[in-house]
Amino acid sequence: MTALPPATVAPVTPAHAAVLATLHGACFAHQPWHRPWDRAAMAVILGLPGARGWMALAGTAEAGDGDGDPEAPVGLLLVQAAADDADILTLGVLPGAWRRRGLARRLLGLGMAALRVDGITRLVLEVAEDNTGAVAFYRAEGFAEVGRRRGYFCGEPGHARDALVMARSILPGATDAGATDG
Ligand SMILES: CC(C)(COP(=O)(O)OP(=O)(O)OC[C@H]1O[C@@H](n2cnc3c(N)ncnc32)[C@H](O)[C@@H]1OP(=O)(O)O)[C@@H](O)C(=O)NCCC(=O)NCCS
Repeated sequence: MTALPPATVAPVTPAHAAVLATLHGACFAHQPWHRPWDRAAMAVILGLPGARGWMALAGTAEAGDGDGDPEAPVGLLLVQAAADDADILTLGVLPGAWRRRGLARRLLGLGMAALRVDGITRLVLEVAEDNTGAVAFYRAEGFAEVGRRRGYFCGEPGHARDALVMARSILPGATDAGATDG
């Protein structure tokens, strides 16, 4: 892996709905099984009970795709906590130069650290079964398959996908490659 880009990571609020919708669309552009989230949908998601999230900004990185703008958004993580569990609603990093630089690992590590403070003990997610890059990422970050949901992703007609349900403990001491950063 190349060195971490000097991106900055900040919590998001419903005021970020428009910029997050654009970023989400760019991260998932090649995944027709994901229904795009427009500004209104993103605002609803950010307003869900227990929803919180983080956005990575390009900072002073020269990794490209940020157009030299330190405020350019390059990655996002949204979660929803309920009782002891939290679900990953979405996780994405801009395609191209920002990928495979540890940015998703960093977002996940920061998210897990914040959720731990809130008493959350387990993180759960659904990922399309043939989204091999994302499945590899989650496995590398300590998630294991705990179930499957048939036809869970149903974005564009004809592109339905089953989801793997993956989970990991975020109790202190659990395998946690990303929580040391930031
Ligand atoms: C999945 C995703 C978030 C990973 O982001 P990233 O910033 O590139 O990931 P990281 O650099 O933090 O990767 C950490 C480790 O995960 C694994 N990994 C990440 N992407 C991988 C890929 N495409 N193929 C295989 N392993 C991968 C590797 O072990 C990697 O470590 P390494 O680079 O030292 O080998 C990114 O590819 C993405 O946005 N994909 C599109 C959106 C998506 O599918 N999101 C997940 C579904 S919710």
